[in-house]
Amino acid sequence: MPVIDWDKRLSIGIAAVDEQHKILIGQMNDIALAAELLARPSDLAVLLRKLRTDLRQHFDYEEKLMDPLAYPHYKLHRNEHIRSVELLGEYYDKLMAEQNFSLSSFLAYVVNFFHNHVVCSDQTLGDFVREQSQ
Ligand SMILES: [Fe+2]
Ligand SMILES: [Fe+2]
Repeated sequence: MPVIDWDKRLSIGIAAVDEQHKILIGQMNDIALAAELLARPSDLAVLLRKLRTDLRQHFDYEEKLMDPLAYPHYKLHRNEHIRSVELLGEYYDKLMAEQNFSLSSFLAYVVNFFHNHVVCSDQTLGDFVREQSQ
């Protein structure tokens, strides 16, 4: 069962960013499905590492978008990215160290962060980029 679905409210109006968000959502759902199908911890670890890497790349992409525009919320937005990568790393290490590899709290954190961040911070960025290009 998907842990998050794409819907129009998640669109920030920048096609490349929307596409990256859709891919990240797909990866979160793939992790949930793999957990449901009782994939081996080593296979889940591969999916988790890939999600972490792709999230980092996605954050880099957004930060490069903000940079030349002197985006007024740059620092705040970037801090959210940094903090989430740190927390993801902590969760990942914890999961790897646990005997019973349970993903539910990890996924709940990622999905919750992702959804809130996209509808608030990324949406504000999308509005700003569109205003600048008018
Ligand atoms: Fe962001
Ligand atoms: Fe984003």
